[in-house]
Amino acid sequence: MAANIIDGKVIADRIKEDIKKRTLQLKQKSGIVPGLTVILVGDDPASQIYVRNKERGCASVGMNSNIIRYDSSISEEQLLDKIHELNNDHNVHGILVQLPLPNHIDSQIVLNAIDPKKDVDGFHPINVGKLVIGEETLEPCTAKGIMKLIEETDIQIEGKHAVVIGRSNIVGKPVSFMLLNKNATVTMCHSKTRKLKDIANKADILIVAVGNPEFIDGSYIKEGAVVIDVGTSRVGNRLYGDVNFDEAINKAGWITPVPGGVGPMTITMLLENTLYCAKSHE
Ligand code: GUN
Repeated sequence: MAANIIDGKVIADRIKEDIKKRTLQLKQKSGIVPGLTVILVGDDPASQIYVRNKERGCASVGMNSNIIRYDSSISEEQLLDKIHELNNDHNVHGILVQLPLPNHIDSQIVLNAIDPKKDVDGFHPINVGKLVIGEETLEPCTAKGIMKLIEETDIQIEGKHAVVIGRSNIVGKPVSFMLLNKNATVTMCHSKTRKLKDIANKADILIVAVGNPEFIDGSYIKEGAVVIDVGTSRVGNRLYGDVNFDEAINKAGWITPVPGGVGPMTITMLLENTLYCAKSHE
């Protein structure tokens, strides 16, 4: 039987409606309009699109956004000065520095400079540490969106074997700890993992975040598994996921499409995190 499709667009739209309502309530009750500031350095075309989508996302739920654009020649020190200024600005509830940054800037130093309470990406070491020890905190948006999608299937996470392929700080590592915090048994795989197919075949929940088009074919998937495809690679005019959808749909129990799966959830979780930051000012 063909897998159920987890429709990220429908789920994201529903959550956004709820965020919009809570944003209005916050404004009516406390006069606070959540505000997100995004810093974009350079002219990477993909980053330009991501940032524009963030701006539109904010507007769609009644939040303020401000995009600060810098030429790629900006120094690390200038960027850090701006972040310190934003940290002290009470009208800025969330700060996001779009990655990647130019090579002459140390991304981790920049991310570490953001006030952890305004860190809507959840990348600051304080927030990463809280996530690891299971304390409530700002969580990375894509990983948080993946958890929402899994919850939508109504399968129980506790006791399940979750396999995460890809160990990035943005997706693989945080989602692994979130699954662990929900009492899944988690196996983290990466480019040096041996016998990847044998491990993937044991996954009740399979998360693939490697950025390699259709890297995972049907033979990697356990019958009935929940398959979350995080990859989006553009080849010619088409977007490809990390999973061969046409093969996987005949093995999986649940699967996310690309596009329209994880993608729409990321911005929605950014809005959720921005609202969370703004509410702390109530
Ligand atoms: N570039 C690609 N993904 C992300 C993300 O989640 N956050 C930021 N800040 N930059 C990115």
